[in-house]
Amino acid sequence: MPGLGAVASTFIAGVLAARRGLMPPIGSLTQMARLGVGSTPDDRQPLIRDSVSLASLDDLVFGGWDPITTNALEAARTAGVLAPHDLAPLADELEAIVPMPAVFDTRWVSRLEGRRVKPEASKWAQAQALIDDIARFRDGQRCDRLVMIWCGSTEAYQAPSAVHDSVAAFEAGLRADDPNISPSQIYAYAALRSGVPYANGAPNLSIDLPCMTELAAREGVPVAGKDFKTGQTWMKTLLAPGIKARMLGLRGWYSTNILGNRDGEVLDAPENFKAKEVSKLGVLDAILEPSVYPDLYGHIDHVVRINYYPPRGDNKEGWDNIDIFGWLGYPMQIKVDFLCRDSILAAPIVLDLVLLLDLAHRAGASGVQEWLGFYLKAPQAAGAQSADHDLFRQLATLQDTLRGWAGARG
Ligand SMILES: NC(=O)c1ccc[n+]([C@@H]2O[C@H](COP(=O)([O-])OP(=O)(O)OC[C@H]3O[C@@H](n4cnc5c(N)ncnc54)[C@H](O)[C@@H]3O)[C@@H](O)[C@H]2O)c1
Repeated sequence: MPGLGAVASTFIAGVLAARRGLMPPIGSLTQMARLGVGSTPDDRQPLIRDSVSLASLDDLVFGGWDPITTNALEAARTAGVLAPHDLAPLADELEAIVPMPAVFDTRWVSRLEGRRVKPEASKWAQAQALIDDIARFRDGQRCDRLVMIWCGSTEAYQAPSAVHDSVAAFEAGLRADDPNISPSQIYAYAALRSGVPYANGAPNLSIDLPCMTELAAREGVPVAGKDFKTGQTWMKTLLAPGIKARMLGLRGWYSTNILGNRDGEVLDAPENFKAKEVSKLGVLDAILEPSVYPDLYGHIDHVVRINYYPPRGDNKEGWDNIDIFGWLGYPMQIKVDFLCRDSILAAPIVLDLVLLLDLAHRAGASGVQEWLGFYLKAPQAAGAQSADHDLFRQLATLQDTLRGWAGARG
């Protein structure tokens, strides 16, 4: 994991706790959900993890890069997500997970000051250093397979440029230190060059670029992006299909959040928030299809705000005010106040993405894995058609894909 902060440390701690039998891995479909296959009676539906050949929790080892964090225990304590009494039995294992120095550049994350940063100055040398890190980790930990998942801070907003058009252009850009290449893209490049599947948990441009799609196809590696679908957007993708199912109109959706963790601090910078805003705003149009239903969804004011408010730490509060209208155009309002815990919701998504990308890789899948859009706020489309945002259709697609592999188990 590039980025050993709140999400990554909560993810690791949860897996360690689950494999010691301290707590079940709540929120993880791969561990807890059942998959009906064929005509199996309901009470005998198998668990997903018993239906497809997933790596087991006992087989996982964890590593990462971070410019600040010194080890996973320190990350968990700084994040303050998990209580000391939950961390205590895991402390030794967490402390032993020491991130490697990062490829980091304050131009992309201005609010953080990197202290554990790679000395290599050129982007080409940084990419080679990451490729070496991956090989060393694979050998040192005696791993058969790896998956990389970006759990790093949200980088500043960026539109794709010519350097992202092809692998050749990107490699020339690395050699020329092109300013349009961000650290997360260097990690993604290093992963794909090493034959390692890659998922992007943040909203910045990283894997959703023509050069990365070309490289993923060339190396035969599956990828998924982007931005974990956790709090408010998860709610939005639950409620919007319900409003549409009843053919009720929507006039406006105002979403605001208060958040006090390091992620909130980074997102307080306008250029970093812009990346998040773009990823959050796409959801409603994709679900409601205003061009198909102009009377109902042709004039929606959709506003998203995130405010950094330190007292809340990782315990985000997300408010939604939804202005809907019904019969004869009469207005109604829905208010949602979600007191969620960001990393508690994100951690099982990390686990599932890792296990499912590994499964996809072994099944011979490569390129964009659109069926993993269930987990992502701005799901990347595999073809020309835009990706589905409706949580229930996404779940059906995920289950269908797994059913296909369940038949081929063994
Ligand atoms: N928690 C959620 O619900 C949620 C949902 C969607 C997306 N995300 C995204 O997931 C990411 C992680 O969230 P978090 O709460 O753990 O944030 P965090 O700030 O606690 O952790 C991010 C870590 O990334 C490190 N980092 C920054 N740049 C890096 C680089 N170039 N290389 C390696 N490490 C780097 C930081 O030092 C920090 O320790 C953020 O981008 C966030 O926007 C989180």
